[in-house]
Amino acid sequence: MIPEDTLAQLAHKIAACQLCTLYATRKFAVPGEGPADAQVMLIGEGPGFYENEQGKPFVGAAGNFLNELLAKAGLNRDEVFITNVVKCRPPDNRDPLPEELASCRDYLENQIAAINPKLIITLGRFSLAVFFPMARIGAVHGQIKKVNNRLVVPMYHPAAALHQPALKSTVERDFAHLSDTIKQNIAARPAQPHKPAEPEDPAESATQLSLF
Ligand code: URA
Repeated sequence: MIPEDTLAQLAHKIAACQLCTLYATRKFAVPGEGPADAQVMLIGEGPGFYENEQGKPFVGAAGNFLNELLAKAGLNRDEVFITNVVKCRPPDNRDPLPEELASCRDYLENQIAAINPKLIITLGRFSLAVFFPMARIGAVHGQIKKVNNRLVVPMYHPAAALHQPALKSTVERDFAHLSDTIKQNIAARPAQPHKPAEPEDPAESATQLSLF
């Protein structure tokens, strides 16, 4: 069964959440959007100005660029689920604080469990750290990792790429390289039930959290 209710319940909880101080300055919380049975999930950092105004993820300039990147990977935005590590806008677009990341963590874990995507694309260093706390984005971007039954691909954040021309072509290339993996692993395979398994590389297990 597709866990629509679970995702919808999470969205309601997030909309009313007061676990950290970000609720006080938000206009709208941004739980995320996309199909409950999406095979691909993208995890960004946190809502910016436009996302806070609309309650939707990646609707500003970075969102437009993300749509282009998805197309390079052979994906449509309406077939993927997009969310962030923090669901409320940090004032002035500052980095999320450790206590804000910790407060939102269960929401993200529950979203991943409910959707059970085959592929997770992390956008930027904060979502990379959810899976690989010791990794550096400059060293691992574009690499396809296997974490239990799931593929995880760390990517540069689209906003960072927009601000640094040298990164733009890198992230475009990384998304384009993903298209073969998408064709082979995502579109062709029927959805499989969630089944936790051991990480492939035991060395990685120390850096992975309960979720995986
Ligand atoms: N940047 C993010 O990380 N997330 C958004 O939703 C928008 C911009």
